[in-house]
Amino acid sequence: MDTPFSGPEIFIKDFNSKDYYDSYYASDKGVMLGEWTNFALKNFHDIFSSGVVKGNTLIDIGAGPTIYHLLSACEVFPNIITSDFLEQNLAELKKWLTKESNMLNWTPCVKYVCDLEGKSVNLGEKEEKLRKSVKQVLKCDVLKKNPFEPLVLPPADCLISCFCLESACKDVASYCNTLKSLKDLLKPGGHIILQSALNGTFYYVGEKKYYCLSIAKEDIEKSFIEAGYEIVKLEVQQREDMSSLDISDYDSFYCIHARKP
Ligand SMILES: C[S@@+](CC[C@H](N)C(=O)[O-])C[C@H]1O[C@@H](n2cnc3c(N)ncnc32)[C@H](O)[C@@H]1O
Repeated sequence: MDTPFSGPEIFIKDFNSKDYYDSYYASDKGVMLGEWTNFALKNFHDIFSSGVVKGNTLIDIGAGPTIYHLLSACEVFPNIITSDFLEQNLAELKKWLTKESNMLNWTPCVKYVCDLEGKSVNLGEKEEKLRKSVKQVLKCDVLKKNPFEPLVLPPADCLISCFCLESACKDVASYCNTLKSLKDLLKPGGHIILQSALNGTFYYVGEKKYYCLSIAKEDIEKSFIEAGYEIVKLEVQQREDMSSLDISDYDSFYCIHARKP
């Protein structure tokens, strides 16, 4: 049976940040640690170390309780604004930024990125660099014309997001409309990098099942073009690890890098 769309009230009431971390990113059992994190972190590393994407401000949309996707960005952007729809996720992000004793542990991702960077910094130094770069943790709703309403953010040089639009958007038309709103957050020439999964219909967080927009590579290309971006690169990698199909049924990952003209 199709998974019904998970509206905002379901997220607010049910989404448990710790369950999400445990299911997907915890060192011992997180099903996204490995195939997904290697794909996403390598793409971010390649893009941010290329020198093509630069500037002062990067906006991160729909971070959930996670920080792994910012580890390369902080080498380039001194002003990172991270965000999510849920207070419980913002609270987890703040715990990590202020090093509370019960913060989530991102050591495997930090180590992976340090190895990619080939630097001899210790993992603690790398984490501190990210903490210093994150200047704001904000509530956002990507379905709004201005996702940061009532705040009006100065246009950014870059915007990134992982696994967010497929959770927030009910259909491809909504995905495309959201891309149009995100364009308003960017300077002319600004970059957008989205990474997520293709052709998935659901994902579990603990016992709760959430809707996932089943989007194909062609839908993504068409949506970015209709929203008025220039596509720089769209990369797809087939899923190899089928051991957790009962937790989420996507068949591949994508990374799209595009620019606002
Ligand atoms: C599958 S999680 C992805 C979390 C994280 N980015 C990652 O890479 O694991 C989906 C996230 O989308 C957020 N979300 C859902 N609806 C949203 C909306 N309308 N606006 C912004 N974020 C939303 C949820 O709060 C959740 O953190």
